[in-house]
Amino acid sequence: MEITNVTEYEAIAKEKLPKMVYDYFASGAEDQWTLKENINAFSRILFRPRILIDVTHIDLATTVLGHKISMPIMIAATAMQKMAHPEGEYATARAASAAGTIMTLSSMATSSIEEVASTGPGIWFFQLYVIKDRNIVTQLVRRAENAGFKAIALTVDTPLLGRREADIKNRFSLPPHLTLKNLEGLDFGKMDPTNESGLASYFATQIDQSLSWKDVKWLQSITKLPILLKGVVTAEDTRIAIQAGAAGIIVSNHGARQLDYVPATISCLEEVVKAAQGRVPVFLDGGVRRGTDVFKALALGASGVFIGRPVVFALAAEGEAGVRKVLQILRDEFELTMALSGCCSLKDITRNHIVTKGDMLRAVARL
Ligand code: FNR
Ligand code: LAC
Repeated sequence: MEITNVTEYEAIAKEKLPKMVYDYFASGAEDQWTLKENINAFSRILFRPRILIDVTHIDLATTVLGHKISMPIMIAATAMQKMAHPEGEYATARAASAAGTIMTLSSMATSSIEEVASTGPGIWFFQLYVIKDRNIVTQLVRRAENAGFKAIALTVDTPLLGRREADIKNRFSLPPHLTLKNLEGLDFGKMDPTNESGLASYFATQIDQSLSWKDVKWLQSITKLPILLKGVVTAEDTRIAIQAGAAGIIVSNHGARQLDYVPATISCLEEVVKAAQGRVPVFLDGGVRRGTDVFKALALGASGVFIGRPVVFALAAEGEAGVRKVLQILRDEFELTMALSGCCSLKDITRNHIVTKGDMLRAVARL
């Protein structure tokens, strides 16, 4: 079957993967309300395209934390990619590099920081989970620096793992032929799925539930790398994040895998952008499946987006070629959206190019 949009990879992945693995990748928390809402909220935003603008040349290039990339579409951290495909994170890293964009490597990856860095040229961010033993955290950050990673994405929405019911039913744990390569040899023990999701019990025992704002300062004290806070969804936390020295914010609800019934990220974006007042870049992840979604996020003030599940499902279906295809399809769709909206470069995309449900309600209220 010819793939014509990125969501088509999910059905192929579902067929290929063991149930436990597919369920882990696909699931959201509890009722999975936010999982659906991350997608549905994009569909409530409509366009106000401009016409008769010369769109012969469209430039998608942008700069993220000083690094030039080919388009504002980047790869989010997703754990344990070798469960999807034997080449796992290497394949993803090579596909990102070929597309001229950034890949974020998970702390919980099945390939090491050094292995990813050895795949060739690339721009990589390291997603950090703060483990109770701070020496291990310091070592991880040092390794990312030495391997040439360009930023730390500190995940701030996961003091404990969200309740993913499929993982509990499946007694999820990492298949025995794989290891969490960045944490290898650090005497972590295995995931214990005896009574629940093995990953949930791993988080409860290993991750530092005391993580707080003072630790953002601590992290800055041990590294010069810029720190992005991944998982901010309110204006209040945006203001504190900037005061605490964050170099940028990723509006994220962890792909709806943590607290259920938080709004879609696209619904939180404008609040965060306003609070950031242009002082730091704001990015978004969650539910980005179309080039039109990328355009909508940029129109609401995002400097770029990250994608999670589409990469994992394409990896499962076709390895590196699949991830390349996902990035190409999103790029092509986004470029076409720009042309059909009358935008030749990212700075041409404005708030007036879209209309949200809130805009419509306010317009009706004024009648
Ligand atoms: C994730 N996500 C994630 N986030 C993180 O900070 N560290 C991690 O290790 C992981 N692992 C992970 C695994 C899987 C299977 C998924 C689906 C997600 C969250 C991820 O970075 C991102 O926030 C979401 O995936 C974005 O939503 P979409 O694109 O999947 O809808
Ligand atoms: C997840 C963790 C590992 O969402 O971030 O599964």
